[in-house]
Amino acid sequence: MDIRQRLKSWNRDKWERKNHAMYTVYGENRWPWFNDRLDPDIEEFFRERNLLQLDILDLGTCSGSQAMELARRGHRLVGTDISETAIKQAKLALGGEQGLQIEFLLDDISASNLSENRFDLVLDRGCYHSICMFNHYEYVASIKRILRPGGTLLLKIMSSEEGRFVNYDKFGDKLIQMPYHFEKKQILDLISPHFGIEEIRDSFFYSSVFDPPAKARFLIVSNT
Ligand SMILES: C[S@@+](CC[C@H](N)C(=O)[O-])C[C@H]1O[C@@H](n2cnc3c(N)ncnc32)[C@H](O)[C@@H]1O
Repeated sequence: MDIRQRLKSWNRDKWERKNHAMYTVYGENRWPWFNDRLDPDIEEFFRERNLLQLDILDLGTCSGSQAMELARRGHRLVGTDISETAIKQAKLALGGEQGLQIEFLLDDISASNLSENRFDLVLDRGCYHSICMFNHYEYVASIKRILRPGGTLLLKIMSSEEGRFVNYDKFGDKLIQMPYHFEKKQILDLISPHFGIEEIRDSFFYSSVFDPPAKARFLIVSNT
């Protein structure tokens, strides 16, 4: 297996293990990023632009809470995750809620099976910052392919101003920082060669279970 394949399986196994431990063993969602509402800045983005009935991908959907909140506002949602337990959990959380246009699928954004020009908007609240160290180019290629021309990526990543969550995962003898904590310039250097940056601001991973919330950077990016 080449290094990319090994990294992909390493990332998948790691997230499956973590999500399994949280949802199946621990049984209660204590992920520090978990929010049963939309973050105020994300809510504001939709309200200010009066955006209705969009095709949206909630990438790295985990519990599915963000996908469900957006579907409740009338958007058509696909929530994807690399972890089978996360997808099971999201379907369970959706339960029998009627009338929502939403599906949860197993999909790896670094080798995505989602079709070309499928979405008006991708929400990534915490996926890129855990795969940027080894899947940056695959991520960019997939997002550019699945977003319609002019479509939007809402990207929320951990900020370098956050002193907590400085964890290192081990791949062989290499330490990989996860989630990566971004300086403003670092994320702009990575994203701006491929997309138009409409806005970058300081923000939080607003949470309904964790206080004070983790400091984040929030980018509004267009598929130019
Ligand atoms: C920080 S959590 C996301 C939280 C969720 N977006 C929310 O707002 O509640 C990161 C999620 O990304 C998923 N993930 C990691 N690598 C991925 C990949 N290559 N493709 C899709 N999902 C991935 C993980 O399994 C995990 O559930």
